[in-house]
Amino acid sequence: MPAPTNTATASPDVLQLQDIALRRGTQLLFDKLTLSLSERRIGFIGDNGAGKSSLFRLICGLEQPSAGQVHLPTAGADGARPVGMMFQNPDEQWIFPTVEEELALSLTGRGLRRQEALVQARQWLAARGLGHWAERAIASLSQGQRQHVCWLSLLIAAPAVLLLDEPFASLDLPGQQLLRQEIAQAPQQVLLSTHQLSHVRDFERVIWLEAGRVRADGPGAEVCAAYEAEVLQRAQERRLSIDEAAPAGKAGA
Ligand SMILES: Nc1ncnc2c1ncn2[C@@H]1O[C@H](COP(=O)(O)OP(=O)(O)OP(=O)(O)O)[C@@H](O)[C@H]1O
Ligand SMILES: [Mg+2]
Repeated sequence: MPAPTNTATASPDVLQLQDIALRRGTQLLFDKLTLSLSERRIGFIGDNGAGKSSLFRLICGLEQPSAGQVHLPTAGADGARPVGMMFQNPDEQWIFPTVEEELALSLTGRGLRRQEALVQARQWLAARGLGHWAERAIASLSQGQRQHVCWLSLLIAAPAVLLLDEPFASLDLPGQQLLRQEIAQAPQQVLLSTHQLSHVRDFERVIWLEAGRVRADGPGAEVCAAYEAEVLQRAQERRLSIDEAAPAGKAGA
């Protein structure tokens, strides 16, 4: 199994976490977590509650570590922020009532005036064949459509690092294919968490988190295979213990 990487280099343009601690209530989720994240595509996998979203929230500054430091690379081009995040739950991300206003917010964040931002947002949507979405109320869109709007608002904001937290979760198959293509084409660094391993299996680096610790860290194909093998083993052990607990003569029935 690929060994966890536990050293951070000192390069100023590399996203780094140094001796991070994060407390969740009484639980110490991260304890001296150190990661140097330089690869262009990094996947994060692991069970529910392993800490994937928490890690992303720390990186984008939504939460502060109780100890340690997050070092961000330099800001993106044209006033763009160093990092931006697509939330696991789209309804935690969007702020404005309509799609065009939400996208315009990403552009005002880059220094455009509101009217100009609205015009550009409409043009950008139209160029993507989504002109009919411009005045739609985000609340009236389906879950997958709202997730797509969140991706669009991140894409148009163009931060230097894209944090994508379960971005495929609500998308239909065509939507997943489109997002895969767009992620592949994005010039930025991409950090992506997912339970759908096919989306990160070909990534140069995947990190398997387990209860806030790095269980494995290495090429996507190897780390995904190691995680799948362990999940299978857990399922077999569970089945064995159910069989053992079953009344005599009923086991395996
Ligand atoms: N706001 C919070 N307050 C207290 N505990 C929290 C909070 N958010 C998350 N946690 C806890 O922190 C741990 C890590 O949660 P996190 O959401 O980071 O996991 P995850 O790997 O993203 O899981 P999932 O695959 O379900 O999205 C879990 O035990 C969770 O219950
Ligand atoms: Mg999560």
